[in-house]
Amino acid sequence: MTNTKQQVREFYDRIGWSQVGEGLYQNARYEDLRPVSRDYIHKCHLRVNRHLAPAGDFLLDAGSGPVQWPEYLTYSENYRYRLCADISITALKEARAKLGEKGLYVVADIANLPFKADVFDGEVSMHAIHHLPLGEHKRAYQELQRVLKAGRSGVVVNGWHNPSLMRLAEPFIQLGRLVSGRGRKRKKDWADEDDQAGTFVEKLTPRWLEGELAGTVQYEIYPWRSLSPRFMRWFVRPQLSGETFLRFIFWLEERFPRFFGRNGQYPLIVIHKRESRD
Ligand SMILES: C[S@@+](CC[C@H](N)C(=O)[O-])C[C@H]1O[C@@H](n2cnc3c(N)ncnc32)[C@H](O)[C@@H]1O
Repeated sequence: MTNTKQQVREFYDRIGWSQVGEGLYQNARYEDLRPVSRDYIHKCHLRVNRHLAPAGDFLLDAGSGPVQWPEYLTYSENYRYRLCADISITALKEARAKLGEKGLYVVADIANLPFKADVFDGEVSMHAIHHLPLGEHKRAYQELQRVLKAGRSGVVVNGWHNPSLMRLAEPFIQLGRLVSGRGRKRKKDWADEDDQAGTFVEKLTPRWLEGELAGTVQYEIYPWRSLSPRFMRWFVRPQLSGETFLRFIFWLEERFPRFFGRNGQYPLIVIHKRESRD
């Protein structure tokens, strides 16, 4: 295993999946947990179900973590087994505490899945591929397609690098920081408070993804969630009709999926595997 992957694994084993109280993991600090944002985040989580076969034998959860949000359980509700694959043993122990015998637990690298081709009826990979070096992202997508049954689909969610909608908001956030005496925020090498980070992360742009996957993986891009936690913490305020604003954003995402899928913070990428012709 490379040094980078070793660091990611150690981070999740020792920090990311440590419990910090009230049933929350340290990793949850990267999410906006305020009541005003709850309904929007809940509906965004459920979007994944639209693209999965509703039932089957095996659902692969690649980079499962501990299956941390309640909505994640709905993805495998009508599957016999949910196979959780992760490089963090702590993640898998926590997942087992949640899923029990419904789960199968495999320590594995998502860029080299130790499974035969054509075995999964559905797949999800949420916020995990971004922990791979950019040079391995394509391989992870190809692996997900390889192990998927023909005619089925899988869902991948990761953040875009510097998406245009969030970029537009950045000057206002920086101004807000100055006004509130917090000073300008320096970009760190490894992501920032927006994202599921704290360790190595490399994110890509829609153009880069298109270039990498062209001719190898069949996929479509939809919005999962356009707004980053950072944006939401700054601009979504309960006293300023925050919930109404988020309902409007959700409506826009539904109405203009192509635009929000490419320009919002988190795309939902659906991988398809064609039925073979013979
Ligand atoms: C940000 S967490 C997301 C967990 C979960 N999918 C979620 O959305 O809450 C990333 C997870 O991916 C796992 N991971 C990172 N790199 C991996 C790799 N190369 N192979 C398998 N799992 C990996 C980490 O151990 C961690 O559990």
